[in-house]
Amino acid sequence: MNVFVIGANGQIGKQLVERLHEEGKHQVTAMVRKQEQLDDFTSKGYQAVLGDLEGDVSSLEQAMSGMDVIVFAAGSGGSTGADKTLLIDLDGAAKSIEAAKNGNVKQFVMVSALKAEDRSAWPEEMKPYYVAKHHADRLLEESGLTYTIVRPGALTDDAGTGKVKTGDVSTGEIPRADVAAFLAHLIGHDAAHNQAIDLVKGDTAIEDTL
Ligand SMILES: NC(=O)c1ccc[n+]([C@@H]2O[C@H](COP(=O)([O-])OP(=O)(O)OC[C@H]3O[C@@H](n4cnc5c(N)ncnc54)[C@H](OP(=O)(O)O)[C@@H]3O)[C@@H](O)[C@H]2O)c1
Repeated sequence: MNVFVIGANGQIGKQLVERLHEEGKHQVTAMVRKQEQLDDFTSKGYQAVLGDLEGDVSSLEQAMSGMDVIVFAAGSGGSTGADKTLLIDLDGAAKSIEAAKNGNVKQFVMVSALKAEDRSAWPEEMKPYYVAKHHADRLLEESGLTYTIVRPGALTDDAGTGKVKTGDVSTGEIPRADVAAFLAHLIGHDAAHNQAIDLVKGDTAIEDTL
């Protein structure tokens, strides 16, 4: 399948692109927003296109033309304010969903966050972030697209373990490497269709999930 990774220059996105490229089961295209990032990806032999989540839907639609699976792994990050959270995490996701609906996308995978569905669990200082994640997820669920929402716990840069816990999770953390491995595993997997999956570190081998 043709897999399109939005946020491909990010810490999860990069590991996902590398993994999909190495596995060779799918054709992966990285969406990045700067020319030097594009040059970096293409110099490694990866397919890449320029795209900006602050741009319009039609340019995103053009960038994802011919893609079967979209993975949204972008985010405004912790160093910007609520304005960018609104523009990237919420409206960037909304525009990506809209663009995917106009194409022939078979699965839209959203990297969300643990507890995004549960307002009562949102810490006061993180509310704008959770509001963005919550409504991006709901837009996707209501879009008519075949979706998979992955809700990881707190992300770490620890080495990947290849093992996770899914389902009935209230708190926890997970290495970004394991999130990338789990995303690669669920792409094109029927059991992941129209599911929202909580994800933290655990004891189950990723290939035994779903
Ligand atoms: N931190 C946590 O504990 C936590 C927990 C659960 C879920 N999450 C979610 O996990 C996801 C990935 O996390 P991560 O650590 O891999 O994030 P990250 O390293 O901050 O990567 C985010 C990527 O989004 C890209 N981006 C930002 N604005 C963009 C725009 N206008 N157009 C196109 N791309 C844009 C960034 O591009 P540049 O490289 O150009 O800056 C970056 O590559 C995020 O959605 C985050 O909310 C995080």
